[in-house]
Amino acid sequence: MSGGLLPVRLGVNIDHVATVRNARGTTYPDPVRAAEVAIGAGADGITAHLREDRRHISDADIDALMGFLQQAGKPLNLEMAVTDEMEAIALRHRPHAACLVPERREEVTTEGGLNVAGHHNRVAPVVRRLREAGTRVSLFIEADLAQVQAAADIKADVVELHTGAYCDAAREYGLHSAEAEAILERLTKGAAAARRLGLEVHAGHGIDYATVAPIAAIPEVRELNIGHFLIGEAIFVGLPEAIRTMRAHIDSARAGADA
Ligand code: PXP
Repeated sequence: MSGGLLPVRLGVNIDHVATVRNARGTTYPDPVRAAEVAIGAGADGITAHLREDRRHISDADIDALMGFLQQAGKPLNLEMAVTDEMEAIALRHRPHAACLVPERREEVTTEGGLNVAGHHNRVAPVVRRLREAGTRVSLFIEADLAQVQAAADIKADVVELHTGAYCDAAREYGLHSAEAEAILERLTKGAAAARRLGLEVHAGHGIDYATVAPIAAIPEVRELNIGHFLIGEAIFVGLPEAIRTMRAHIDSARAGADA
């Protein structure tokens, strides 16, 4: 890379392997096996969302993922709601990273990220305790300047910018439509503002092979967390191939942005 842009890490979200398993109440397909295959195919880390209703990933999955990833020397990014139960689980496991996400309607901003600005008093102590336990804390927010500022104010390490609306607009109206470009512009400005405030910038939600390139080209973005599309694509081409193709799209977008 000529201009010195740092590479973008790929975190693979394996939640929907558990969704398929749970559809039949079997022990397969195993999310830990998916993590192993993903790491083998070049994923930099694994993301899993332990939801309050346990609709996909289970507590036992988190135990097993922690064990496997510690052995493999790769990070787990635990997505979690801001609840006492989830905080206790995170503090027990002390994963490399925790990403605080909204699960209840009242915690959600208009577009869908965590309303950090509106729930400052509840989110700030959780961020502090997780950080004290040695976990890097990320907040899943909209690329909205008030939310970015609130994340910096409560001393999060990272913001993960919600790319769902961008990806939906790109699929509905076209990648280069005015609708998609306007949201991409917001993401780009949000990433720059976050970086200026000392936050590391990640992005995720709804990303596929087409939408990954413009997002990976945002200079401040350091990590993408991608799940649903990769697990879906794996049905047709296999998980390693899906991950390698995504990785190639990320690297080529990054090299293009750096040229
Ligand atoms: N990042 C966060 C914070 C998420 O909640 C999710 C969905 O669990 C993802 C990334 C991955 O989104 P997708 O499965 O649509 O790729």
